[in-house]
Amino acid sequence: MTTTPTVREIAVLGAGTMGAGIAEVAARAGYRVALHDVTQEATARGLERLRASLARAVERGKLAAGDADDALSRLRPCPDLAGAVAAADLVIEAVPEQMDLKTALLAEACRHAPRGATLATNTSSFSIGRLAEATDRPERFVGMHFFNPVPVMLLLEVVRGERTSDGSVALARAVGESLGKTCITVQDSPGFATSRLGICLGNEAMRMVEVGVASPADIDTAMRLGYRHPVGPLELSDLVGLDVRLAITTYLYEKLGTDTFRPPEILKRLVAEGRVGKKVGKGFYEY
Ligand SMILES: NC(=O)c1ccc[n+]([C@@H]2O[C@H](COP(=O)([O-])OP(=O)(O)OC[C@H]3O[C@@H](n4cnc5c(N)ncnc54)[C@H](O)[C@@H]3O)[C@@H](O)[C@H]2O)c1
Repeated sequence: MTTTPTVREIAVLGAGTMGAGIAEVAARAGYRVALHDVTQEATARGLERLRASLARAVERGKLAAGDADDALSRLRPCPDLAGAVAAADLVIEAVPEQMDLKTALLAEACRHAPRGATLATNTSSFSIGRLAEATDRPERFVGMHFFNPVPVMLLLEVVRGERTSDGSVALARAVGESLGKTCITVQDSPGFATSRLGICLGNEAMRMVEVGVASPADIDTAMRLGYRHPVGPLELSDLVGLDVRLAITTYLYEKLGTDTFRPPEILKRLVAEGRVGKKVGKGFYEY
């Protein structure tokens, strides 16, 4: 068990791709976890995804079968929000990237969570300060940006909002480390460190395709072999989803105003044509 002493129970709000992954790593590390989604069916789907991921880890010899069972015994599916957060020391929100949805849920969670509980968000781009305004505890609100797939990716980007206390940053980092993540701390700024740099590289790669510098495959190979990136910027954009990438770069362009983030024409065109990446079988590549 590697839990951090001040946190025993974690509530995860949203049982989708990220929420199920966060709940899995937390339960594996020894925390009690309440997993909440908007309906009973959605919560059950999240739990199923999590079970399948644990089973894969056991199959691959990365987790003992007994440890997987122990992790499951610490998990409580909870479609009722009040019940999910009632005993939580830490609440991690992982619902879709929509400002109104996140602010409404955070405000409601505050009504039911213990006064001393810390709240965190897994947002990939929104301002932590803006989300904190929806809560009754901006000093105990912090960004905890995990990466997909959560059980595999080693980074946790901890984001400090304008009013986030040192104690909340320390708590987020301690929990992240107990989950086996390497933590970085970033000031609240559009795109934080990861999305801002990642989009920058991806946009330039797209502009190079546009003007015919090289093919997508050759540009990706250049970065994989020449710079040791595990995956090239265009493959990665296809994997994340070109629609998602377009949304983030549009937001960053609006907030930062530099040409680096002006959405590339080729990106806009591919999205308009419905070629949004791997999830639909076509983007910069055909799958
Ligand atoms: N997918 C990624 O690669 C990735 C990586 C890092 C961060 N993020 C961020 O994580 C967050 C979640 O993304 P995701 O990919 O897991 O989305 P997702 O669509 O897979 O899951 C979101 C879940 O939230 C649930 N939900 C919707 N409204 C809810 C409500 N009011 N209360 C409780 N649950 C509700 C949905 O039913 C769904 O199960 C977003 O902010 C996203 O930007 C995503």
